[in-house]
Amino acid sequence: MIDLQFADKTVVITGGASNIGRGIVHAFAAQQANIVLVDIDEEKARATCEEALELGAQGCAFMKADLSSSEGCIAVINDAIDVNGGIDVLVNNFGWGDPGLLLSTTPEQWDALWRMNLNCTIACSQTALAHMKAHQKGNIVSLASDAAQGVPNQSVYGALKAGVVAFTKAIANEFGRYKVRANVIAPGIVLPKEGAAGERSVWNRGQTVLTDKQVQDTYNLSALRRGTDPGDIANAVLFFASEVTARQVTGQTLSVSGGWWMP
Ligand SMILES: NC(=O)c1ccc[n+]([C@@H]2O[C@H](COP(=O)([O-])OP(=O)(O)OC[C@H]3O[C@@H](n4cnc5c(N)ncnc54)[C@H](O)[C@@H]3O)[C@@H](O)[C@H]2O)c1
Repeated sequence: MIDLQFADKTVVITGGASNIGRGIVHAFAAQQANIVLVDIDEEKARATCEEALELGAQGCAFMKADLSSSEGCIAVINDAIDVNGGIDVLVNNFGWGDPGLLLSTTPEQWDALWRMNLNCTIACSQTALAHMKAHQKGNIVSLASDAAQGVPNQSVYGALKAGVVAFTKAIANEFGRYKVRANVIAPGIVLPKEGAAGERSVWNRGQTVLTDKQVQDTYNLSALRRGTDPGDIANAVLFFASEVTARQVTGQTLSVSGGWWMP
């Protein structure tokens, strides 16, 4: 395994309890990082932290927060910085999709989508960036989606994820002079393995988000015609976050979707 030099680094991962976030926690754990897992699902988060410690994490602290409000985001990132004496990497993984045709989408739904996708990314990033600027180093990786390309049923979510991409380019420009890098991963469909989704995961709400046929049809639209695992996304996050592999990479978006989207 390549040493990506996270051994003495504090990595804060939002929505880290299940599915993609859990895969990202596992990947940083195997690199001996000091992990802060921010989530609302206490039971699932504690289980994921235990897995992280078994995989070799230097530490794994769970911080409970409701990331659907600016106040919740700002308070928990400040707490993470205070408790750990700093922050080296912020992974804005928390996000939420609610597929539906635009004409049946309510203002309440798009307000929730805004708070959980773009607002949370802005609030967590701004809080972390104040610290990163002062220390002249830091790294942010945010999760967007290939839905940002304009996908039926995902107009609001896609627009907000396109906002994550634009926001990331802007902060990469604004904070590059302080040696802070910021990049985006755009996953295709990543279904949790059995038991991997927590209570508050979008995939575990007792309702089908996508049918098996829709999932397979979606896989078939990609060049590789197979599904993406949380570990596939996590490896791309490690790549962007490490100064070993991506020292000169900033403001970029990488689709990890089996070639569903080729810019
Ligand atoms: N899974 C996919 O197919 C897919 C595709 C494209 C993009 N993405 C993006 O990747 C990221 C992760 O997606 P996922 O499918 O792993 O998510 P998920 O729904 O499986 O998990 C989200 C996590 O957020 C936590 N959470 C829910 N509400 C919360 C709240 N109010 N405050 C704090 N935590 C809360 C949940 O407990 C869970 O651990 C998101 O940004 C998503 O938009 C996912």
